[in-house]
Amino acid sequence: MAEKWVRMVTAQTPTNIAVIKYWGKRDETLILPVNDSISVTLDPSHLCTTTTVAVSPTFDQDRMWLNGKEISLSGGRFQSCLREIRARACDVEDKEKGIKIVKKDWDKLHVHMASYNNFPTAAGLASSAAGFACLVFALAKLMNAKEDNGELSAIARQGSGSACRSLFGGFVKWNMGKVEDGSDSRAVQVVDDKHWDDLVIIIAVVSSRQKETSSTTGMRETVETSLLLQHRAKEVVPKRIIKMEEAIKNRDFASFAQLTCADSNQFHAVCLDTSPPIFYMNDTSHRIISCIEKWNCCEGTPQVAYTFDAGPNAVLIAQNRKTAAQLLQKLLFFFPPNSDTDLNSYVIGDKSILKDAG
Ligand code: DP6
Repeated sequence: MAEKWVRMVTAQTPTNIAVIKYWGKRDETLILPVNDSISVTLDPSHLCTTTTVAVSPTFDQDRMWLNGKEISLSGGRFQSCLREIRARACDVEDKEKGIKIVKKDWDKLHVHMASYNNFPTAAGLASSAAGFACLVFALAKLMNAKEDNGELSAIARQGSGSACRSLFGGFVKWNMGKVEDGSDSRAVQVVDDKHWDDLVIIIAVVSSRQKETSSTTGMRETVETSLLLQHRAKEVVPKRIIKMEEAIKNRDFASFAQLTCADSNQFHAVCLDTSPPIFYMNDTSHRIISCIEKWNCCEGTPQVAYTFDAGPNAVLIAQNRKTAAQLLQKLLFFFPPNSDTDLNSYVIGDKSILKDAG
């Protein structure tokens, strides 16, 4: 009779929001980007993925559930992450439960994976970022892989590019890397979550519907058709990355906000420069931008930074709690809940931790 044990690990990983965007791949299979990017990892109590992975000799195939619904594992991305972690799996022994797995057993054992997002999936809130980071982290724990988070980030990247940045808290840089096998295309922490902990992040959820053009398809079309992307990747982003790292290290909010807003706007300009053009923002997003721009201009110095990913939802970063309260007041005044703008707000602190709840 087959042995009956089950070994389980649960992990929780927050999502991240890019302030210098990743948009465009130079290698689609390995997920290698055309430029470096920088993000802030959010507080896990608000937008995060919780993933439980289990292994048992009674499982006869690898299976995965997302928000309670079974999904197909046939896509190359899940297989890449599983293959990479299996290749690094080590011996596991749990005397209490009578479990002994030796390295070579991992090739024959199957895993079950269940993942939950506490926020809308694929609505431009970087759900794949938290999802693949969490999956890779949990699998690594399950299989006792000894790799550090930097090495794991290069595996999570093969699930979804932005996922590599969710392996760290605070501000994180994804180095695009140079080598062909992608081993140097990984995330590094710029500063930890305590460095700039008076920032407050508010996400204005303009729409929680799934986006029409996925990031993967959108960026493929941009790479194929946009000349502006080439200029952005070669001329603009390398300089911006240096300035952004400096602004973050010096807690220079004025420069940080200027760079964040400019980069979001250029990313959406690149989407418009794609053929056919991609529209991720809507009228409400544009009204939010105007509102923040006017406010920043009136004060003479930026109070709030805005950034939009591949969807209409606004990520607003306030310098401190006082400005965040003023921002919320403005949002509630100009975009009252239940109005035709369909806008709800969530307050997110920027502190974050990668929790191993295993
Ligand atoms: C606009 O990481 O979702 O959020 O690598 O194809 O899975 P794939 O794309 P994904 O793209 C994220 C794009 C972005 C910008 C960013 O997070 O840097």
